[in-house]
Amino acid sequence: MRPVYVLNGPNLSRLGTREPDVYGAETFADLAELCRNTGRELGLSVEVRQTDDEAELVGWLHEAADGRIPVVLNPAAFTHYSYALRDAIAQRTAPLVEVHISNPAAREEFRHTSVVAAVATGTIAGFGLNSYVLALRAVADAG
Ligand code: DQA
Repeated sequence: MRPVYVLNGPNLSRLGTREPDVYGAETFADLAELCRNTGRELGLSVEVRQTDDEAELVGWLHEAADGRIPVVLNPAAFTHYSYALRDAIAQRTAPLVEVHISNPAAREEFRHTSVVAAVATGTIAGFGLNSYVLALRAVADAG
């Protein structure tokens, strides 16, 4: 099965308790299970990770680039200001889909900017946890 990384940035470990009106009631464990099950259906071996640490996330992106591993990435708040993350994504050697649970374009002004979108293969936002399912399908279709 083809490996895929599902990488998650800061505060996403707190799904379920974090602003449930925005991010829903499901937990990070639920999200991880959903991604692994979806991957199994699509013939992908999905590895789900989360960190609050920008350096760790950059390191995982280097690992994916070196291994030619596709990535589904929710950069969380880093989306809006991390040029370090942007530069790491620019080194990608396989498809990378930016995902968001909410629709940042429909929220506060500072969320309207993504400094990573231009170096991602594409972006899926606003479909709740289903954004990850759609992104995994896109990765599977990309071959
Ligand atoms: C988010 C949207 C970001 O603006 C926010 O900082 C997050 C989560 C989302 O999945 O909707 O932490 O990436």
